[in-house]
Formats: sequence, structure tokens, C-alpha cells
Amino acid sequence: MAIRNIREYGDEVLKKTCKEVKEMTPRTKELIEDMLETMYDANGVGLAAPQVGRNLRLFVVDASPNADDDPRLADFKKVFINPEIYERSEEEVLMGEGCLSVPGIHEEVYRPERIRIRYLDENWQEHDEEWDGFAARVIQHEYDHLDGVMFVDRLSPLRKTLLRGKLSSMSKGKYKASYRTKQK
Ligand code: NI
Repeated sequence: MAIRNIREYGDEVLKKTCKEVKEMTPRTKELIEDMLETMYDANGVGLAAPQVGRNLRLFVVDASPNADDDPRLADFKKVFINPEIYERSEEEVLMGEGCLSVPGIHEEVYRPERIRIRYLDENWQEHDEEWDGFAARVIQHEYDHLDGVMFVDRLSPLRKTLLRGKLSSMSKGKYKASYRTKQK
């Protein structure tokens, strides 16, 4: 296993729509293991393939350490392959978010409270699940990455304007995270 470089805001790979994973190959298995290790190293709760430079519909999550707050999170260590969120609650909630590709920025974002999602796991088994609360939040954030969308894209025009300077210096590679990110 190896820790991979995390791509930062401004990197073209983060703006692309990702491609479906066709089959589980040794290379994909290795990518998943590396993504988990990279996520733990950076103290993240989720990481999507484009964040390590791979244009694939795949993300990993682990919020099991948060199970003290919400017992349902005890099992929330998962690999989502070719996921499809096919139902979203009308009710939206505001929750704070951050992103390993946007170090140092934490903002509140509105998203649906509850979702239903179909996906394949690392053993190519199909799942169909409903999630709400923090888990639904993490899933929706990572799912966005597969369509080239970052959480800062979902902020109000005013918040975006206020963050413009910080984001533009980040996209020029002038911002240093405490974990490994790709240098420009
Ligand atoms: Ni993110």
C-alpha cells in the first residue's frame, strides 16, 4: 500500500466527469487500498478517486470513529463503486463541510437530509441503501467529486466571493496542506 498525492482545488482532474469502473482488476484493488491509506493519513472521512488523480466512479468512506455520536456510523467504512443516488429527500439541511482537496476551508452547505443509493462494493456485490444524517452528507460530498463538483461550488455567491482570493491562491499551488498534496 502507498500514500498517494492528493490533488488540490484548481487541478483539472477534479473538474472532470469520471468514468464507470468496468471490472475489479488488481490495479483497481490497489487503488482502493491506497485511497484508504491516503484518507487515513490525511485524517479524512472520505476520498474520491479523482482526488488522487484517477478519473473513475469510485470513492471510499470511513466515519466509524464518529460512532460515539451516532451508533449507525459504526459500520460506515465502505467502498462505493459506480454509485447512483436515485432518491433525495426534499428536506435539505445545513451542515459544515471540508475537503482534503480544499485544505483550510470549512463552510456550511445545504444538501438533502436523506438519500437512497445503489452501488457495488469492493467484492462487486450490489447494495441498495438509505442513509441520513452525517453518513448521507459524506456520501453526497464524495459523489459530487465523481461529477467534477466540489463543495465550494455549492456555496452562495456571497460566500464564493469572500473565498475567491483563498481559492485562487490554492489553484496556483501557493497553499500548503499538512498532508501530501501534488505540487504544481
Ligand atoms: Ni472532497
